[in-house]
Amino acid sequence: EDYDLIIINGVVATPESSQALDIGIKDSKIKTLAAPGQLKDSTAKRTIDAQGAYVTPGGVDAHVHLEEPPLFGKGSSADTYETGSRSAICGGTTTMITFAPQQKSMDSLLSTLSTCHEKADRKCYVDYSFHLLVSNPSATALAEFATLREKGISSLKIYMTYAALQLDDGQILDVLLEARKQGITTMIHAENGAVIDWMTKKLEEKQLFAPKWHVTSHPPVAEVEATYRAISLAEFLDVPILIVHVSSPGAAKHIREAQGRGLPVYAETCPQYLFLTRKDLDRDGFEGAKYCCSPPPREGEADHEAIWRGLEDGTFTVLSSDHCPFLYDDAVTGKKRCISDDFPVGHFKYVPNGLPGIETRLPLAMSASRLNICKFVEVTSTNAAKLYGLYPRKGTILEEVSDADLVVWYPGGEMESFELKNEMLHHAVDHTPYEGRTLSQWPRYTILRGHVAWDRDNGGLIGGKDGVFLPRGPSSLKGSLSEREWDVRDF
Ligand code: URP
Ligand code: ZN
Ligand code: ZN
Ligand code: ZN
Repeated sequence: EDYDLIIINGVVATPESSQALDIGIKDSKIKTLAAPGQLKDSTAKRTIDAQGAYVTPGGVDAHVHLEEPPLFGKGSSADTYETGSRSAICGGTTTMITFAPQQKSMDSLLSTLSTCHEKADRKCYVDYSFHLLVSNPSATALAEFATLREKGISSLKIYMTYAALQLDDGQILDVLLEARKQGITTMIHAENGAVIDWMTKKLEEKQLFAPKWHVTSHPPVAEVEATYRAISLAEFLDVPILIVHVSSPGAAKHIREAQGRGLPVYAETCPQYLFLTRKDLDRDGFEGAKYCCSPPPREGEADHEAIWRGLEDGTFTVLSSDHCPFLYDDAVTGKKRCISDDFPVGHFKYVPNGLPGIETRLPLAMSASRLNICKFVEVTSTNAAKLYGLYPRKGTILEEVSDADLVVWYPGGEMESFELKNEMLHHAVDHTPYEGRTLSQWPRYTILRGHVAWDRDNGGLIGGKDGVFLPRGPSSLKGSLSEREWDVRDF
């Protein structure tokens, strides 16, 4: 046989173009891209007729929390590597980068990394890698950055908030300097922890505990100030950064301004900042708690609009899920840990922060029909692959070099719209923030390295735990600007 799989009559979309092409797949790779009809005399084990539908690179979700210990002091993540990656593939994501969370009590990063390898090994339905989450930049940890690169890790995340994780400005500089030397991209959770703590105290003094006050306790100024500070520190050391999960138009403005000056400042946003608002936290009883994430959903349409525009104009490099669901009920007592007699619907400060979303990321964005198809591919797949050193093996559809990770969508108008229900999803939590929303698109097929793993109309999830670890190189997006000599970078 010439091919393992042929996909005919589709419209192949990448950031550069969308054009009618037939695809020949062999040995897990994109082997041939040909004008429509040109593969008709070839033989293949299987042929998929895409009938004029878009064929896009599999989603690359570069912000995923799985099997994390209770780092925030409020509960552990609900999804395991198995359930989280299962959810990913059913929603069109074929590569995920999860966090390997160092605990503050640990000096080293390497045991964290090996623990995550053990958790993920042979458990994943999608290919995967890890970002090191650095909460204790000890001398040991900083010295290990070089080793991380040897082990195929080229990115890390740091926090400017959360007591258990927060770094001060000096520690941030320590991390950025060493990251610069090792060609590592630093992701920054930019919220001012002191402002959040101060607001929390003020709300408590007024006896305002309900989940909806979570939004008030995380005001835009906390995000805007921290974003500007992160950019300033990165500019000082001339080092690339990515600001994660940006929710505020004001933060986006600082990012845009920095990009306008040519700085390697990248940014991420997430579906929750396009589709949810503070009203979602103002639901009855405990329901509002299920929308607590940080930064929180903002006021309304004007904010959503600014974030969509940021995706369109390149302010946001990537649209990730920040998949981080929690099980609120304690396994032993069956009770919700963030609820007590004093706080019958929960106290916002005890509610774990994070939403499920790895499976709904692509369908929500595709159904919204707001981004043109090339931009959709760029922000949901290609740019993440470039920024985190996986391109062009992942994130595009190139002959001979790209893995055959593909999503085949439905031809325009052919899929019946439906109301999303949590029971349709494949994660391990009992809620989705998008319950009841009407979706007009969903992946028809998800293909991982040439194997159909999701067939919506014929068996659903049919793939196995075939995901492999992806060693990553440096970012292929613009990095440090100069080889300036003065400076602290050599200290
Ligand atoms: O609320 C959120 N975003 N939870 C996940 C942890 C993080 O900061 O990304
Ligand atoms: Zn974060
Ligand atoms: Zn909206
Ligand atoms: Zn996150």
